[in-house]
Amino acid sequence: MDSMSSFVEILRQRSSVRAYADDMVPEELIQEIIDLASWAPSAGNTQPWRVKAFSQEATAQFIREFEILGWESALPKIKQLFQDQKKLNSAKANEAVIALLESELRIKGRPSALLIYSKKESFSDFFRYSINAMSLYIYRMINPASENRWDFRVRLTKNLIRRAWKDFFISKSATQASLANFTYALTLAAKSRGLGTCIQFLYNGVFSGFKERIGLTSMDKIFGVVIIGYPTPSTQQDNMGEFRIRNPVNTDWIKRF
Ligand SMILES: Cc1cc2nc3c(=O)[nH]c(=O)nc-3n(C[C@H](O)[C@H](O)[C@H](O)COP(=O)(O)O)c2cc1C
Repeated sequence: MDSMSSFVEILRQRSSVRAYADDMVPEELIQEIIDLASWAPSAGNTQPWRVKAFSQEATAQFIREFEILGWESALPKIKQLFQDQKKLNSAKANEAVIALLESELRIKGRPSALLIYSKKESFSDFFRYSINAMSLYIYRMINPASENRWDFRVRLTKNLIRRAWKDFFISKSATQASLANFTYALTLAAKSRGLGTCIQFLYNGVFSGFKERIGLTSMDKIFGVVIIGYPTPSTQQDNMGEFRIRNPVNTDWIKRF
């Protein structure tokens, strides 16, 4: 198979794995996967991602503490989905949700967990951007020859000052996109090395007081968790059908506007 078609295979065959073997993934292999994922594109090449890699033991403890708490918030929505799509009454939908949780959704076996986080920009970063915006503004003021068009100067100056604020307050979305790229790249890199993964964001709402326990501060922002390990042969995910379906992407072609 040529490298392009094997890439397409990886893209199409990656799926969320929730049943893992007991075998330990060597630390060097996990590090290699993290390094491969760092080829993901990031806004301004800022590479905002940081990783806390949990051992199998630490992961087991993590799952014990947070898994059920995390799922609690999602189960009512899944129940509603069952009631709407499968036309189940409330009691039957309860049974179906709990059965799905036990048979498919809960992580089985002994995987590891990679917690992805980023550092928040500090007020001193914002201060530095503002100083830069001001100095560019002053530069434009005292070098009018470098640009004759007054409206351009006014626009640029206004934009520079607005940008300083925007970069501080709004570039969060660019950071989030960069972190998402890294997260997906992790799953593809893992697949290319014969490992399974499952992105897990459900825990995010139940982490109170957790950051300090793993050496993070209030300046660190947890993005999400990727569970990683050797998939078991029984990873069929028979009941996960509706969570695997891909809908056609709604694409509008714009020829002129
Ligand atoms: C941002 C994000 C958060 C997710 N959170 C969870 C989660 O908390 N628990 C879980 O079991 N799967 C989680 N998933 C996996 C999705 O359920 C899964 O990707 C989707 O159903 C498609 O299935 P597939 O990954 O097998 O193709 C998450 C996926 C993404 C991208």
